[in-house]
Amino acid sequence: MEKIVIHGQKRLTGEIEIHGSKNSALPILAAAALANGVSEIHNCPRLSDVDAALRILEHLGCRVRREGHTVSVDSTGLHDFAVPDRLMREMRSSVVFLGAILGRTRRARLCTPGGCEIGLRPIDLHLLAMEQLGAELREEGGQLEFSAPGGLTGARITLSFPSVGATENVLLAAATAKGRTVLHNAAREPEIGDLADFLNGCGARIYGAGDSTIVIDGVAQLHGASHTVIPDRIAASTYLLAGAVTQGRICVKEVVPAHLGALVPVLREMGCTLSVSGRWVCLSAPPRLHRVKMTRTMPYPGFPTDVQAPLSAALTVAEGTSVVVENIFESRYKHASELLRFGAKIHVEGRMEVIEGVDRLLGAQVVAPDLRGGFALLLAGLAAHGETVVRGVEHIDRGYESPELLLGSLGADVQRICEDEERTAKTEPADTEKPDPGPQAAGERQQDR
Ligand code: EPZ
Repeated sequence: MEKIVIHGQKRLTGEIEIHGSKNSALPILAAAALANGVSEIHNCPRLSDVDAALRILEHLGCRVRREGHTVSVDSTGLHDFAVPDRLMREMRSSVVFLGAILGRTRRARLCTPGGCEIGLRPIDLHLLAMEQLGAELREEGGQLEFSAPGGLTGARITLSFPSVGATENVLLAAATAKGRTVLHNAAREPEIGDLADFLNGCGARIYGAGDSTIVIDGVAQLHGASHTVIPDRIAASTYLLAGAVTQGRICVKEVVPAHLGALVPVLREMGCTLSVSGRWVCLSAPPRLHRVKMTRTMPYPGFPTDVQAPLSAALTVAEGTSVVVENIFESRYKHASELLRFGAKIHVEGRMEVIEGVDRLLGAQVVAPDLRGGFALLLAGLAAHGETVVRGVEHIDRGYESPELLLGSLGADVQRICEDEERTAKTEPADTEKPDPGPQAAGERQQDR
């Protein structure tokens, strides 16, 4: 297992490049299975969730090759419509493969993805939309079996909630359905627009993505395409908060400033100065952050739920009391109990989190409860006096590329340590006690390292 060790109170300065969006890459990789051909996906982040999506594509019969941040997917050999439980359970957002597989093969079989650390994560809106497009659904023992022998047919669909995933599944399934689909109350997140851009590059006819009404005119088949994934606005927001919580001066580059819309006024209320130039957003933090009276998470363009935990961490050292209301997920405050270990003063009442700013946090041993809550603990460690150890790093690796390298490049004292190796090193006798094995073996030993 790995842990990240931080010695806090280092002011972050400098600039970092933000990786491609996890929440855009995942539906686009699913769309590559819908298209019949070779797709080149550039700026595809190196994340464990993306690796899980690539394993699903390979299981379905696609040929997948990664070179750096470019992933190529050849879906001409796609021969399966079932995603095995083991792959579905690796990443619950695998449900986004539903629309792609159904649209491509007219069948789909997957297990209900189940909940996760932040909530039950129901998929009723996905299922209803697929049935409205003409798919027959049979549910048995947690298995979902879809079939549309005559193909899917365009429909008028209104989502009762602007679900990101359900919107993506409708775009994927309707892209090759017969006739027109009109989707009302669609999610407006930038990742929806990025998916639509990729699909239109594959020959789809999707209009209005990014608005709450999207029109999809089905086409017979999609071909592969080349696409560059948009920057990860959640990662960009998280790193800006790392600068804010360390009195830093940092720039995040290769971002789309407009995608950070709702965060900017919050950072300003915290006393940060922000400047935007092209694809750069720079932040200069005050000596002490100010509290933020009230932050409510909302669907885009409201304040993103994925930034709620990192914001909460930064507010633990702000001057004054802040209130955060989590309106999207029902159980997204697991980071709060870990933040208390640093000496933070947080009270959670239902969907409301009340954070009374303290003068200082003290380093602590903590465990990441989920992806964004895990990074929140890193932020607290950056602000804390002394040493912080964060375990459960695998949660953080789902959505952030090499966080210790990026934070380190900004001046943080941060290390990723493999605990097994650390234990082995401690139990192995010191070199001086071992007989000299000779140059060759020493060379080998060097290679092992
Ligand atoms: C996407 O999840 C993101 N994941 C989430 O990011 C993000 O927090 C969320 O959108 C909201 O922005 C990916 O894109 C892979 P939803 P998704 O469907 O699609 C309820 C991260 O940290 N709902 O918009 O699952 C649901 O329970 C992750 O990167 C239903 O009730 O989000 C939730 O309360 C976490 N029925 C709300 O809607 C449904 O059928 C929002 O869910 C679907 C959703």
